[in-house]
Amino acid sequence: MAFEITGTGRAVPSHRVSNDDLAARIDTNDEWIRSHTGIGNRHIADENTSSSDLALEAAKNALAMAAGFNGNDTGERDRAAAEMAKDLDMVILGTVMPDFIGTPSTACIVQDKLGAVRAGAMDIAAGCTGFVYGLETAAGLLGLGRGRKRALVIGSEVLSKVTNWDDRGTCVLFGDGAGAVVMEKTDAPSEGPGRRGLVRTLLGADGSGSESLMLRRGGSRNPFKAGETIEKGIYIEMNGQEVYNFAVKAVTDTATALMQAEGIGPDDIAWIIPHQANARIVQAARRRLKVPAEKFYLNIEEYANTSAASIPLALDEMNRNGKLKKGDLIMTIGFGGGLTYGGNIILW
Ligand code: COA
Repeated sequence: MAFEITGTGRAVPSHRVSNDDLAARIDTNDEWIRSHTGIGNRHIADENTSSSDLALEAAKNALAMAAGFNGNDTGERDRAAAEMAKDLDMVILGTVMPDFIGTPSTACIVQDKLGAVRAGAMDIAAGCTGFVYGLETAAGLLGLGRGRKRALVIGSEVLSKVTNWDDRGTCVLFGDGAGAVVMEKTDAPSEGPGRRGLVRTLLGADGSGSESLMLRRGGSRNPFKAGETIEKGIYIEMNGQEVYNFAVKAVTDTATALMQAEGIGPDDIAWIIPHQANARIVQAARRRLKVPAEKFYLNIEEYANTSAASIPLALDEMNRNGKLKKGDLIMTIGFGGGLTYGGNIILW
């Protein structure tokens, strides 16, 4: 039994905001942002767009691909996606920014709009590692049997809605977007010769660092109150240095542990797809790991940090650009709010 990815999709808002656009309104500049983060642009959702909207688009693209559709006609794509959606058993969605706090889950909204009438649906709150957690959760649920065969795993974020656009320490970092994959249980082996699909996952957490990346308001610890004028705590807050140090260690340790567990070295890996938070984090980890730069896929220049969406967004970009070849061994590495970290090894 193997858990193979049979379709990928992504969606980003059309509104593209460059570093120079930000420099026109706050005290920053293109040179600082690029040299400290590798970010050049980000895509920002309009007022009416939420995480489920981007998730739905990414999901349709992934489902249509899984159904064998590869054209440009949106109507045909939607028809192919709707057919495939009827056969979904699970919709799993990682996000830091659900449409609503608590209920309904964003996954349920997507499940309904897709017409995935047979599917269970749930969100995963594992920060920027949500997609890595989501893949393993999907494989676990498909592997249990119970007649389940096909899952949709999505990462979707509209962080721009909780970004303080006057705080240059955070607003330059984030962007909006979504990525999705279809995972199918197949008869291929998941171990030994000819194995395919998701073969190993590491999931980790360090809640002691929870305060270094958080959204303080709105939950049961600190709910919004009727009639209150809200001034503090409504934007994402971050201790950049703490998160930076955690992230470099998380990438290094996760890659090392996964390689050791698989008995492989950097030469065996075709691509490492890290969470796209900061190119400097990846460079620092890469030097420690002694892995050549070409093995790391980076698209942060265009999209900035899209949190749980960054890995599936990159996967789809690579897949559609022909960078992923059948049999390639790829490693994803996520880290972020929680704090959480983890990685997947996938035989494409
Ligand atoms: N433009 C210009 N200057 C800026 C700036 C910006 N956007 N943001 C900060 N600065 C200034 C600071 O005010 C400071 O100035 P000072 O020396 O006069 O006080 C200087 O640049 C250095 O700031 P510092 O915060 O030490 O920079 P840094 O090298 O640590 O980089 C981050 C800051 C946020 C890029 C870095 O800490 C980081 O990437 N952290 C991890 C963030 C992350 O990935 N979060 C999500 C994880 S999922």
